[in-house]
Amino acid sequence: MTSPQNIAAWLPGVGKQLEVGPADTPVPDNNELLVEVKAVAVQPAEYKIQEGVLPFPLKYPTIIGLSFSGVVVNVGSAVTRFKIGDRIVTNSAGTIRNDSRFGGYQRYALTTQELTAKIGDVPFEQAAAVSNLYGAASALFLHLGLEKPSGPPTPKRDGKVLIWGASSSFGAYATQLAAEAGYTVVGVASARNAELVRSFGAAHFVDRNSATVSDELIALGPFKAVLAAADAAPDQVVLGRVLSAHGGGSFLSTMGLRPGVTLPVGVEGKFAQYVDDYLDPKNKDSTEWLWWDYLEQALQERKLRVVPVTRIGGLEKVQEAWNLLHKGAVSGERLVITPGLE
Ligand SMILES: NC(=O)c1ccc[n+]([C@@H]2O[C@H](COP(=O)([O-])OP(=O)(O)OC[C@H]3O[C@@H](n4cnc5c(N)ncnc54)[C@H](OP(=O)(O)O)[C@@H]3O)[C@@H](O)[C@H]2O)c1
Repeated sequence: MTSPQNIAAWLPGVGKQLEVGPADTPVPDNNELLVEVKAVAVQPAEYKIQEGVLPFPLKYPTIIGLSFSGVVVNVGSAVTRFKIGDRIVTNSAGTIRNDSRFGGYQRYALTTQELTAKIGDVPFEQAAAVSNLYGAASALFLHLGLEKPSGPPTPKRDGKVLIWGASSSFGAYATQLAAEAGYTVVGVASARNAELVRSFGAAHFVDRNSATVSDELIALGPFKAVLAAADAAPDQVVLGRVLSAHGGGSFLSTMGLRPGVTLPVGVEGKFAQYVDDYLDPKNKDSTEWLWWDYLEQALQERKLRVVPVTRIGGLEKVQEAWNLLHKGAVSGERLVITPGLE
């Protein structure tokens, strides 16, 4: 195949602004797919890497962005599940590979079979925006020990699941998965996103800025599992108070225990990095279930409610998108970059 012209948004180093420029077009190895990237979901972890808050030891210059959708344009010899022309969504796990060829912010990027699903005729922007379902599923089913969805019909399971930050992309998919698995979900977000969170399947909504947030959550508890999908230090203090009122326990936070937070005796704040869960052989079945079974079916049946998507532009707009996330100016929506529009 003739190599198409590749262009990428390069991150020159920590603290440096993105620069759009040429890149080699990668060639897929055995188990790899080359994807013409059509849409990349902009994630908070990316600007945190640029700012040095998330200390991934990356070799610079590099290309990041790991949740994207597109069309398969070349496959390695061991690829069995995908073929040229397939429309797919993927998580390239680029940040843990330390390999710019797997970064989503380019016109042609590599990924592997494991974290890839076919999307049928679902629009690329919508598909890209569901790819961090992977983190939410890992959090609930691998780290918090909840049961997976097994319906229809939706089973009714004992236990309430508290999701703080239920309007974030991570929280939205955690809310839907937990509700579909049959748990009663209590979602916490800003009041303006109450209807959105209910539409994801939360049975109860609590305004995170309410003066009585602790009391409201204590009254709704106890909780079988507590996930802080998006949080800040004062929120973790609230979670500590809520868990303590029910005799102690732990919460899982996507950013871990925040500096300076002291939790009551008997309460613990935990962290997990979900992007590498698939590397553990004991998670193989779970990974295949999520990407090749659940996600493909959910997309086909339009079962998942996708967080509202805003198309922001081509590769030259990635920096602007990161700046918006950094400012906290993105609420209840997912920004999407469309390589090729630059
Ligand atoms: N550990 C990992 O492997 C991993 C993986 C993926 C993501 N993350 C982290 O998970 C977090 C969420 O990521 P995302 O992609 O879902 O973000 P996102 O969709 O961009 O998050 C935006 C949302 O966060 C909510 N939010 C902001 N501050 C909040 C707070 N203090 N309490 C509750 N909600 C708050 C806002 O909701 P309202 O406007 O309704 O308040 C907004 O809708 C980020 O910190 C990200 O870095 C970690």
